[in-house]
Amino acid sequence: MTTVARTSLDGAHVVVFGGSTGIGLATAMAVKTRGAIVTIVGRRPAKLAAAAGEIGGAQIAVADIADRKSVEAVFDAMTRVDHLVITAGGLQAGRLIDTDPDQLLVAIDERIAGPLYAIKAALPLIPRTGSIVLTGGQYSDRPSGNGTAVVAAAVRGVEALARALALELKPIRVNVIAPGLIETPLFDSFGAEGRAAIFKQASDTLPGGRAGYPEEVAEAMILLLSNGYMNAEVLHIDGGGRFIG
Ligand SMILES: NC(=O)c1ccc[n+]([C@@H]2O[C@H](COP(=O)([O-])OP(=O)(O)OC[C@H]3O[C@@H](n4cnc5c(N)ncnc54)[C@H](OP(=O)(O)O)[C@@H]3O)[C@@H](O)[C@H]2O)c1
Repeated sequence: MTTVARTSLDGAHVVVFGGSTGIGLATAMAVKTRGAIVTIVGRRPAKLAAAAGEIGGAQIAVADIADRKSVEAVFDAMTRVDHLVITAGGLQAGRLIDTDPDQLLVAIDERIAGPLYAIKAALPLIPRTGSIVLTGGQYSDRPSGNGTAVVAAAVRGVEALARALALELKPIRVNVIAPGLIETPLFDSFGAEGRAAIFKQASDTLPGGRAGYPEEVAEAMILLLSNGYMNAEVLHIDGGGRFIG
């Protein structure tokens, strides 16, 4: 009988950039349930404090993933990081014809530069059994023409980055979670009606008739964190959404 290599999360220290809401918060809760010690990172202290309460106990750190100094400071007092999860990021949509490129390039700062800062700073603290999970997205496979060209470039870049780093940082594993449309506060900036319209369209078009839940992404995240043979993987959790026109 073969032995399945599982990395136990019990007692592991998991740092989640973006852990105060949405996918990051659901991930923090899921790892906590499995016995992990959790640190959540985000820009807004009040959100972090509220999330720590929901999680049932978490260390919090304030940082902007795109700001190198603040990212490095997160790791100053840490002695070990078993898993580094990065879900921090916002929506930077805008058509090039009427949007300043610098505004669009925030997507690169948050998804490529930021993770590089965090990985570089965390690396001395990550054991050989540890892992890193970055966040991609379905625009990598299915561009939309709706002003998400730079996001598409960024998430495609995240996949390339993770695969290359998996070889460079071995045996530390590096994977990508690639969510489709997930019901999180990410869409709150569209207002109640705009948000409802986005999810109505999803129910009309997605094969499963609905968008996903952050808890479903968190379950996929657990697989990436705890299966010791998953490496350089891009795990889609999108209800099949990347294949619809
Ligand atoms: N929801 C979806 O449908 C979907 C689909 C594909 C990909 N994604 C990506 O998945 C990631 C998580 O999305 P979500 O839906 O969970 O969003 P969310 O609910 O808005 O959560 C985003 C989290 O990241 C933090 N954050 C945002 N910008 C940050 C920054 N510059 N530095 C540090 N922390 C930052 C937020 O806290 P603060 O604002 O307080 O910093 C919050 O904790 C994002 O990168 C998003 O683009 C989401």
